[in-house]
Amino acid sequence: MKTAAILSSDFSQRVRAGFARRAGHYDGQARLQQAVAWRLARWCRDLPLPAGPVADLGCGSGLLSRALMGHWTALAGQPPLQFDYCPSLLAINPLLASAFPGPQRLWDLNDGLPVELDQAALLASSFALHWLDDPVGQLEGWCDRLAPGGWLVLAVPTAGSFPQWRQAAAAAAVPCTALDLPEAAALLAGIADRGLRPQRQALLRFSQAGPEGLASLRQLKAMGAGTSRQAPLSPGQWRRLRIHWPSPGGLSWEVLLVLARREPCA
Ligand SMILES: C[S@@+](CC[C@H](N)C(=O)[O-])C[C@H]1O[C@@H](n2cnc3c(N)ncnc32)[C@H](O)[C@@H]1O
Repeated sequence: MKTAAILSSDFSQRVRAGFARRAGHYDGQARLQQAVAWRLARWCRDLPLPAGPVADLGCGSGLLSRALMGHWTALAGQPPLQFDYCPSLLAINPLLASAFPGPQRLWDLNDGLPVELDQAALLASSFALHWLDDPVGQLEGWCDRLAPGGWLVLAVPTAGSFPQWRQAAAAAAVPCTALDLPEAAALLAGIADRGLRPQRQALLRFSQAGPEGLASLRQLKAMGAGTSRQAPLSPGQWRRLRIHWPSPGGLSWEVLLVLARREPCA
């Protein structure tokens, strides 16, 4: 048990260091995250919010919060609370700068949510849940913290992502160092179990074209998202992986988007 705790915090720290190294490049590289944030925000346009805290979990540079504020008049002058474990991304988050001096918390989401998010009106998160040790368990915990009438706004890459990477690794007989991503069905079951009703949901596939497979993996690294739970491949293993990447090159993502609500009190 003790060993598991140490390993888990070691992974969080490596994730944080990976994003910190590339923080200055995040917004320029995060085109998929930007597109998904805007799509989620369009779904949320002017939803009725109950009283209670509003937060962006794993906010990074604030892409999702900025998109929500652009579409949702109730949030326009009032940024969501910003929670993240990477100080370097929080440092470039414009919602924490002088125009919007929004509150922030350096927080490891593997520890659940802080007490100030009890009875939340809105918990939003995009491309962050899958970095946690127990995505389904943590998501269930987020649902439990919503006030009656409160909203969950979520985007998360899921287990159908990266088929090209898995195929290349199997053909090259090298370990696949992609993150294990949660199953969309397990996430949706967790949301339903905690009494939330999805108002909208979509399982989308995004493909990034590339001249060859490893270019897509380099792009993940370039935005700081290259941390793996597996040991790194040797140069020889990388070569084999590149040779066996299926044609055409590129990488595809499966991303679950959900807008769900806890029933308001009668
Ligand atoms: C791909 S970025 C997404 C950032 C932002 N939500 C967006 O859509 O651009 C993943 C974020 O999750 C944060 N993160 C990863 N593990 C975390 C943890 N254990 N606790 C809090 N934040 C974490 C990272 O620091 C990073 O900001």
